[in-house]
Amino acid sequence: MKIRVLGTAAGGGLPQWNCGCAECGCARRTGAARSQDCLAVSGDGRAWYLVNASPDLRSQLLAAPELAPAPGTRDTPLRGVLLTSGELDHTLGLLTLREAARLAVYATAPVRRALHRAFPVGPLLSCYTEADWLTVTPGEPVELAGGLRAEAFALGGKRPRYAADLPGEGEGDRTDWVTGYRFTEEGGAARVVYAPGLADWTPAVERAVAGADVVLLDGTFSTADELAERTGGARRSPGMGHLAVRDSLPHLARRPGPRYLYTHLNNTNPLARPDPPGAAELAAAGAAVAEDGLLIEL
Ligand code: MLT
Ligand code: MN
Ligand code: ZN
Repeated sequence: MKIRVLGTAAGGGLPQWNCGCAECGCARRTGAARSQDCLAVSGDGRAWYLVNASPDLRSQLLAAPELAPAPGTRDTPLRGVLLTSGELDHTLGLLTLREAARLAVYATAPVRRALHRAFPVGPLLSCYTEADWLTVTPGEPVELAGGLRAEAFALGGKRPRYAADLPGEGEGDRTDWVTGYRFTEEGGAARVVYAPGLADWTPAVERAVAGADVVLLDGTFSTADELAERTGGARRSPGMGHLAVRDSLPHLARRPGPRYLYTHLNNTNPLARPDPPGAAELAAAGAAVAEDGLLIEL
């Protein structure tokens, strides 16, 4: 299995265009920028899938040599996109893929509905390309090209703000607005987990992480109060669907084995800096911060 980490920042990226905070200032000064959270994964190194479609997708694709088309053709190695949420930082890039001859998009039922109604990317895309929308159900593995298998696990009912009022049957108690994926491959032993929006360390997370080689997980905030402290607002990270690094780290320390990589870092997060304070504490738990462009081969 091959994984290309395309982007590691939360919505807004680093630096964020309208932010002059210490972290954004540091990124402007040093050029140590981060593009928005996105991953590419392949079972055989030939057929590739995106997990999420970030607003930075065009430059992310151009920077990944394995995602280039075959010379003289428009034969892209990209077979489809799997979504972990309907959030704008995970879906705006779908419109960037409109030049595709054909596109498979995998999403859970509520996310799929949101992307056809509240934020109608589905109808928009259908004017440009042939998009096949496929429903992902947590616990039911999806067989993909190149021997790749993806199994979603439910991570919670946090809807994108634009879909706050979206009507739908049983929406109130749905837990699959946000999911993670566990990737395995046919005839291989590699197991990779991707969960950029982790509200809580639940039994489903526990099961997904067991036996994994690599776990890419939510590193949005270092601490639950980080955003409030930096911006003077009142929002705490648990209410935003993000378990702070300080609160997930003890779980990682108790489950040694996988290579843990934090991703989806908000621009307020000191861990997004080069040589961040706290890196040693992460290393002690078998963890590090993922970097844009990182290639993982298993
Ligand atoms: C999130 O990860 O919580 C969302 O993407 C926030 C946002 O950018 O609206
Ligand atoms: Mn996000
Ligand atoms: Zn900032």
